[in-house]
Amino acid sequence: QITPVLMAGGSGTRLWPASRKAFPKQFAALIGEQSLFQASARRLSGARFGAPVVMTNADFRFIVAEQLEQIGIEASAIVIEPMGRNTAPAILAAALRAVEDDPDAVLLVAPSDHVIPDAEAFGRAVDQGAVAARAGRIVTFGITPTRPETGYGYMEVEPAGDTVLPLKRFVEKPDAETARAMLAQGGFLWNAGIFLFSARTMIDAFHAHAADFVQPVQAAVDGAVTDLGFLRLARGPWEGLADESIDYAVLEKADNLSVVGFDGHWSDLGGWDAVWREIQADTPAERGAVTDPQSTAIDCDNVLLRSDDSDMQVVGIGLSDTMVIATSDAVLVAPMDRAQDVKQAVAALKAKG
Ligand code: GDD
Ligand code: MG
Repeated sequence: QITPVLMAGGSGTRLWPASRKAFPKQFAALIGEQSLFQASARRLSGARFGAPVVMTNADFRFIVAEQLEQIGIEASAIVIEPMGRNTAPAILAAALRAVEDDPDAVLLVAPSDHVIPDAEAFGRAVDQGAVAARAGRIVTFGITPTRPETGYGYMEVEPAGDTVLPLKRFVEKPDAETARAMLAQGGFLWNAGIFLFSARTMIDAFHAHAADFVQPVQAAVDGAVTDLGFLRLARGPWEGLADESIDYAVLEKADNLSVVGFDGHWSDLGGWDAVWREIQADTPAERGAVTDPQSTAIDCDNVLLRSDDSDMQVVGIGLSDTMVIATSDAVLVAPMDRAQDVKQAVAALKAKG
């Protein structure tokens, strides 16, 4: 069985105001009834998977526990990182814990903020990758790119007739020009941000490419204490860690990467424009998309209207290329093509105090 490791420690600022520091996007029901976190946990349940490990922080621990309980999934551990140090140390901590119980443990690390509606197709891709993972490869999942997105990692694959392809090159978050060049050249896939590997392989990769993490993360794991059912990693050694993602720390450098192509629908809900694209995919005829009963769109085109407050009616008339997102204490109005700049708004508000 494969152990899912759900990454649920990010703050999702580009989906403000629905995503807040205390309640980020992965816990909000952005699409459908369940939160993205709950949908991710369900996708990684079933026969091929063991009980999940959730990597998160102190602020989100009760949300995680409550949302898992709602869907009847019991975590094998909810691990609390003392402070956010990005995905590299969190993934290493999960691997170091896993080998203590089982030296041959295989982990599937997955973000908790993605949309992958076809869980069966995804499960089949995992099965394809599992053999390579057990043989010492770090398996990533590749998505056929549709635009020169700069927020993703790009993977250049060897065109071979197999389903598990060796990787030539991994480029994390290219600038716009590089992204356009890679798209024009062809042979690149987006990194879905989901990784399958044996815990031993990942620990070895850290020793080889990011050795500074190993001793402090091991100390944080060794010094962990159980508190109200949560596992708290030791703060002292964690504090001094570099803030680095697994992509930069290990994947760009590793030479044992393999890619499984995934052709099912996949989306990282990285901004309101992505939410709008998701809703469009479901109901293409509706050009003015509303996400809730409180919102009304009249003669709208390429418009997302949303109200998270049942007492707040949002009405758009004759709008185009616009998003309006209302909550009980904040309203965002912006052109659709400025979705990525919401991050700046959050920074500006933070500076105001
Ligand atoms: N536990 C924990 N601790 N989780 C974290 C932390 C942390 O410190 N920081 C981020 N995460 C979680 C986020 O909540 C998310 O679920 C996942 O880790 C990935 O982090 P993002 O910050 O969303 O990464 P990204 O989207 O910019 O880039 C990654 O994903 C892309 C695809 O969505 C990279 O892997 C890219 O290469 C990839 O294309
Ligand atoms: Mg992401």
